[in-house]
Amino acid sequence: MAERPLEIGQTVRLRLDSLAVGGEAVGRHEGMAVFALWGCPGDEAEVEITEVSRRFARGIVRSVIESSPDRVDAPCPHFGECGGCQLQHVSYEAQLRHKTAIVRDALQRIGGLTDVEVAETWGTDEPWRYRNRAQYSAAVNESGELALGLARFRSHEIIGLTECRLQHPLSEQIRTAVERLLPPIDQGGRERSLLLGVETFISFSSGRGLVTLVCEGQPAFARPLADALSEDVSEVAGVLFARRRGRAAVHRSPAELVMGEGHLLEEIGDHAYRVSADSFFQTNPAQAARAVDLVGEWANVGRGDSVVDLYCGVGTLLLPLAREARRGLGVEAADSAVSDGKANARAWALRNVTFYQRNVERVLPRWVERGRTADVVVLDPPRKGAGPIVTASVAKLQPRRIILVSCDPATLARDLKHLAELGYPCRRVQPIDMFPQTWHVEAIAICEAASAAR
Ligand SMILES: C[S@@+](CC[C@H](N)C(=O)[O-])C[C@H]1O[C@@H](n2cnc3c(N)ncnc32)[C@H](O)[C@@H]1O
Repeated sequence: MAERPLEIGQTVRLRLDSLAVGGEAVGRHEGMAVFALWGCPGDEAEVEITEVSRRFARGIVRSVIESSPDRVDAPCPHFGECGGCQLQHVSYEAQLRHKTAIVRDALQRIGGLTDVEVAETWGTDEPWRYRNRAQYSAAVNESGELALGLARFRSHEIIGLTECRLQHPLSEQIRTAVERLLPPIDQGGRERSLLLGVETFISFSSGRGLVTLVCEGQPAFARPLADALSEDVSEVAGVLFARRRGRAAVHRSPAELVMGEGHLLEEIGDHAYRVSADSFFQTNPAQAARAVDLVGEWANVGRGDSVVDLYCGVGTLLLPLAREARRGLGVEAADSAVSDGKANARAWALRNVTFYQRNVERVLPRWVERGRTADVVVLDPPRKGAGPIVTASVAKLQPRRIILVSCDPATLARDLKHLAELGYPCRRVQPIDMFPQTWHVEAIAICEAASAAR
């Protein structure tokens, strides 16, 4: 602990040396860790303290005294005010280095896993305009103009955008078209405020897009806006509509089709998948192709094998594995993803695949009770991880190999710790940069049965 405690408002001079989960750079003041917002590891900086707890402090970089060799100019005009990116000021090569360190640190500190080989993070040649999905929020300014933007950094306030360099250009075209087209349709003004947000999903391979208008109630403008939008932007394949109760609510109703198609075909490497507006799909198609290939290589399924894919989405990982296996079972909670998965299995002419629309944590213990087993299990849970109930059931399926795909190093570490305790030690982890310019990192882990008898 620091000899003289830090105080809020105080400015300290620090050498920043690493990057933390969340994207802050970390330095030490008299031994106490200080997380410095907008710092770059390697900087010597003046940091204003904004929060102090017993074991660490947080602050914001007020001036850089000696710039890190890894510091670069952030190209986006919204960087620093927008909540989307945290690392545009860090060179891409350094982002990758620090992401590897974040994964290694989480495995050691949270999972106590010291003997796992964590490879260098796979970077991408396209660290910009890689996202296929956007969720813009609507805000109406004092003069009644509508802006579609993103939340301000650590705030719910919406900032209008001139551009977002993570998005596909078609998504930006749709955003500006909605901003332009909505006012003339709604002369009354009041209705306009019922538009809470706009979501886009772009197929990189076909260059076509889906648009979901998220509204409070059912505004009369939905249909005319959909027509105007598809006329204005010819690449819009479909417009959908979903209801949400107010700006603060997180959940919205399932999307209903207003015009055109409700799903797109997207290619990941050599594989084509149908994806509906509401279905989860990997955000970065180029890097997803590398993830699918690696899962295939590590799963190494044989003709006689049964494969279980938990949290399987539209079958992105399951279908290429099932094609090599005797049987493939996928479990997924979302209705639309299961419908897409079944359609994909048909399109791939796979008769050995079954999709179950269930919660993994509910169905898996039942499978175990009935004595079901699997040769290979793939898990790709949401950010909160699989958790102890699911990992315990996975081990009871007695697979010879488990492939865990994760977008959160902390929950990855916890799940790998449980699996190791259950007789499935992790041997290797490959981080993949799916989310350049942000601190987020995807990682794929392989665990193999410790017992040779399996
Ligand atoms: C990270 S995504 C992975 C999807 C798929 N593996 C892929 O690569 O496209 C997680 C998926 O789990 C689903 N999901 C979330 N919670 C679930 C649960 N409790 N049971 C089953 N599926 C769940 C989500 O709908 C989403 O499709």
